[in-house]
Amino acid sequence: MAFHLEIIMLILIFIALAQPSERVNAEPTQDKQALLAFLSQTPHANRVQWNTSSSACDSWFGVQCDSNRSFVTSLHLPAAGLVGPIPPNTISRLTRLRVLSLRSNALVGPIPFDFANLTSLRNLYLQNNHLSGEFPTTLTRLTRLTRLELSSNNFTGPIPFSLNNLTRLTGLFLENNSFSGSLPSITLKLVNFNVSNNRLNGSIPKTLSNFPATSFSGNNDLCGKPLQPCTPFFPAPAPAPSPVEQQQHNSKRLSIAAIVGIAVGSALFILLLLLIMFLCCRRRRRRRRAAKPPQAVAAVARGGPTEGGTSSSKDDITGSVEAAERNKLVFMEGGVYGFGLEDLLRASAEVLGKGSMGTSYKAILEDGTTVVVKRLKDVAAAKREFEARMEVVGNVKHENVVPLRAFYYSKDEKLLVYDYMAAGSLSALLHGSRGSGRTPLDWDTRMKIALGAARGLACLHVSGKLVHGNIKSSNILLHPTHEACVSDFGLNPIFANPVPSNRVAGYRAPEVQETKKITFKSDVYSFGVLMLELLTGKAPNQASLSEEGIDLPRWVQSVVREEWTAEVFDAELMRYHNIEEEMVQLLQIAMTCVSLVPDQRPNMDEVVHMIQDISRSETTDDGLRQSSDDPSKGSDGHTPPQDARTTPRSDTS
Ligand SMILES: *[C@@H]1O[C@H](CO)[C@@H](O)[C@H](O)[C@H]1NC(C)=O
Ligand SMILES: *[C@@H]1O[C@H](CO)[C@@H](O)[C@H](O)[C@H]1NC(C)=O
Ligand SMILES: *[C@@H]1O[C@H](CO)[C@@H](O)[C@H](O)[C@H]1NC(C)=O
Ligand SMILES: *[C@@H]1O[C@H](CO)[C@@H](O)[C@H](O)[C@H]1NC(C)=O
Ligand SMILES: *[C@@H]1O[C@H](CO)[C@@H](O)[C@H](O)[C@H]1NC(C)=O
Ligand SMILES: *[C@@H]1O[C@H](CO)[C@@H](O)[C@H](O)[C@H]1NC(C)=O
Ligand SMILES: *[C@@H]1O[C@H](CO)[C@@H](O)[C@H](O)[C@H]1NC(C)=O
Ligand SMILES: *[C@@H]1O[C@H](CO)[C@@H](O)[C@H](O)[C@H]1NC(C)=O
Repeated sequence: MAFHLEIIMLILIFIALAQPSERVNAEPTQDKQALLAFLSQTPHANRVQWNTSSSACDSWFGVQCDSNRSFVTSLHLPAAGLVGPIPPNTISRLTRLRVLSLRSNALVGPIPFDFANLTSLRNLYLQNNHLSGEFPTTLTRLTRLTRLELSSNNFTGPIPFSLNNLTRLTGLFLENNSFSGSLPSITLKLVNFNVSNNRLNGSIPKTLSNFPATSFSGNNDLCGKPLQPCTPFFPAPAPAPSPVEQQQHNSKRLSIAAIVGIAVGSALFILLLLLIMFLCCRRRRRRRRAAKPPQAVAAVARGGPTEGGTSSSKDDITGSVEAAERNKLVFMEGGVYGFGLEDLLRASAEVLGKGSMGTSYKAILEDGTTVVVKRLKDVAAAKREFEARMEVVGNVKHENVVPLRAFYYSKDEKLLVYDYMAAGSLSALLHGSRGSGRTPLDWDTRMKIALGAARGLACLHVSGKLVHGNIKSSNILLHPTHEACVSDFGLNPIFANPVPSNRVAGYRAPEVQETKKITFKSDVYSFGVLMLELLTGKAPNQASLSEEGIDLPRWVQSVVREEWTAEVFDAELMRYHNIEEEMVQLLQIAMTCVSLVPDQRPNMDEVVHMIQDISRSETTDDGLRQSSDDPSKGSDGHTPPQDARTTPRSDTS
């Protein structure tokens, strides 16, 4: 049939050549039908009108044919208002198609399976749609592809190893999707590559490490060159199903996942081995020098308190235990944990967050103990200095302060171990899942958090003589009862740049910009911003996205100056009655804390008293304070604690 058609076309072309004045009427009839079938099934913009009686090759919008006019070779319909799924058995019939661009439309659903028939395809542009489903493995059969753009869609699942099938591929654009899992080792000679803004994790394969960091940014937890080195805390490799069986009997997707799993698993295992060997060597070298153990050390890994119940059988694993002794985990006095570095290394870990100081992990040890490990970056302090600082920090003990439990210092690695606070941070509680499905944070809970955090900070200032230096809502951690604790304090001096310009910008006191010094008063300013955040429900601007964010103190000041005070409060609080008085009082305290002149700011212990003194209006009746439309009272079933309601009212003023 196709053969027949070609002959007819050749004849037509000869006729056309013989009569040059006449229009060429050769038409790719079958392709034309396929195109019409596509357009009739896909809603589109008005300007895309294909006139059935005119020539597809000459006059159809976005269509180009080969020189023989026997096949459509390219179809460009960018931003053509196409809506809905790509109908099957339409575009896939354009078997000589070399370029397909359907970018910037509203296409949904998966890429049709029959795209596998587009074997001539060189360039495929599908970016900026709402396409979904897993990575279309049919595409990995289009071995002539040189450029594949799937960015800004809704694709999920792993990026398949079988991409390596596309040996001519030079440009691969997968950014702004929801691809997950780890990156396969792609050995293609790619010139452009981008997987940023997905949900990928694990280490970046060496074959891709020459691309810039922006090719990988915005993923869950990618590590390795060009991003930061991978953590020594590995999640236990997922139990890999028998790979050979999977490959033979299951769909391709599964076998690829298994291969990727094994690759990542064994890479992690080798890394772990190397780390242990490295520690062993160091220990041997250092032992000869017979270095003195630091004075600051209260208890060391093995000699430390052990009521945590570490099994003694672990001590038989001589290699790693010995390794841990030299660069040991140093426990702070009065600690409750009894594990060693090697236990930490074996722990399964999950990234909690990345901050300016480094990355935090939730580490679950084999015995079930859960701790937070902070892996510091850009530490400038020498070992002695570091240890001295840790002793100061570790000495602060208060119910509203997250205690430092242990630290580890080596040339390449600085770790801090803290208690794990299961209820998360104030930032998450306040800004997480806004909109539907959110339990509002009620006023009593906010007051309780403000008071707890103020007490913790006052303790740092007064008894610890310690500047916090990093007050922000993500550093206020919560017990399940909403008892607030301050964390991440007193660490600024150990960093190369104690006041980086981009850190905690929205909370930073104005004078810090010039003096480059953090002080008790600059902490008070930050705490004032934190209170404004509690009151307004708005996050202060963060560093670079200052266009998006707001300068909270300045915004509140401007609104209050125009006597719109009620407008500043979090809309979520409007459902509670009889709290305006208290909100205004807390607002006033916050405003004095954010005074531009440091000397006009109160001390932290004064702030504690002021918050305690916020008087409940006399008409207050607990029944009335309940939300009328939310009998469950918002917070997760907790009744606000009595002490928050009946704070001493008469001890000052
Ligand atoms: C379609 O093309 C034919 C011939 O080229 C022309 O006469 C006709 O008006 C066109 N129809 C539309 C709707 O443009
Ligand atoms: C187009 O026609 C030429 C001869 O004029 C032929 O050699 C070539 O194979 C044809 N191409 C296609 C794609 O049919
Ligand atoms: C794809 O091509 C194969 C063979 O070339 C054919 O059997 C199949 O029907 C085609 N599928 C579609 C959807 O066109
Ligand atoms: C992406 O997919 C998720 C779940 O499959 C869905 O909830 C979401 O609405 C989709 N987003 C878009 C833009 O299609
Ligand atoms: C890789 O390409 C070959 C043909 O070159 C094909 O048979 C195979 O199915 C492809 N693999 C995948 C996973 O698409
Ligand atoms: C990806 O998303 C970011 C932010 O959402 C946007 O700035 C960027 O232009 C997007 N990239 C592409 C290729 O659409
Ligand atoms: C990557 O994330 C998945 C869950 O999405 C998890 O099962 C897997 O262990 C993670 N892998 C690594 C190397 O972190
Ligand atoms: C990758 O894509 C992101 C989002 O569109 C962009 O910001 C980044 O500059 C891109 N990186 C490269 C190397 O193209």
